[in-house]
Amino acid sequence: MKKITIAIDGFSSTGKSTLAKQLAKQLGYVYVDTGAMYRAVTLYAMQNGFVSENHLDKENLVVDLPKVQLQFQFNPDLGFAEMYLNGNNVEAEIRTLDVSRLVSKVAEISEVRAKLVEQQQQMGKNKAIVMDGRDIGTVVFPDAELKIFMTASPETRAQRRYDELLEKGQAVSFADVLQNVKERDYIDTHRDDSPLVQAEDAVVVDNSSMSREEQFEVVLNIVKEKLV
Ligand code: DC
Repeated sequence: MKKITIAIDGFSSTGKSTLAKQLAKQLGYVYVDTGAMYRAVTLYAMQNGFVSENHLDKENLVVDLPKVQLQFQFNPDLGFAEMYLNGNNVEAEIRTLDVSRLVSKVAEISEVRAKLVEQQQQMGKNKAIVMDGRDIGTVVFPDAELKIFMTASPETRAQRRYDELLEKGQAVSFADVLQNVKERDYIDTHRDDSPLVQAEDAVVVDNSSMSREEQFEVVLNIVKEKLV
């Protein structure tokens, strides 16, 4: 069967990764969560004192970038690949609200983006890949056969993220999560390098009032049309 590239972009907490994982599993494709890569670089920057709430040492972070080794390793028990930073599994650490608060600052740095985009293009060179992020259909794979742009209201997205964090035992307030969602929307759509924009040829999926199953059904039908 024909192999294609599926690019999924959209605002934070729109369920991009859930959909991308479902599609990859169904099609036997590789799934790549590019947000995890930006989160892992952010964790590295935090651990080395390059970024905090009121400070960003861009220069030294950029100098250190060659030391940042990112790798995805498939975990058969979970059914998806986990993020490793310099050999350590950082899957749990990169999902905390602390990392979420700082990641947009790090993702604004062009040198960081250039390094990660190159790795992403390398991972997708043989197609049969589902990649999610903010610039996949516009920058990483502008020729992707299928581009999906996902959106939902900030409140719906904050509620989803809040429920996830509570489930993981993290003590957070809904107000903080909503504020973080709105701040990241602003920074992601206003940065100079590769801002989050809908590719002209993307299919828009607003899942504010769709269940995961309904959404999967809708998108799978679109995918099937592309595979014939
Ligand atoms: O998808 P996520 O929420 O885990 O992404 C974390 C952050 O990384 C998000 O605020 C913006 C940034 N990001 C990006 O700039 N480009 C991507 N391709 C993926 C994520």
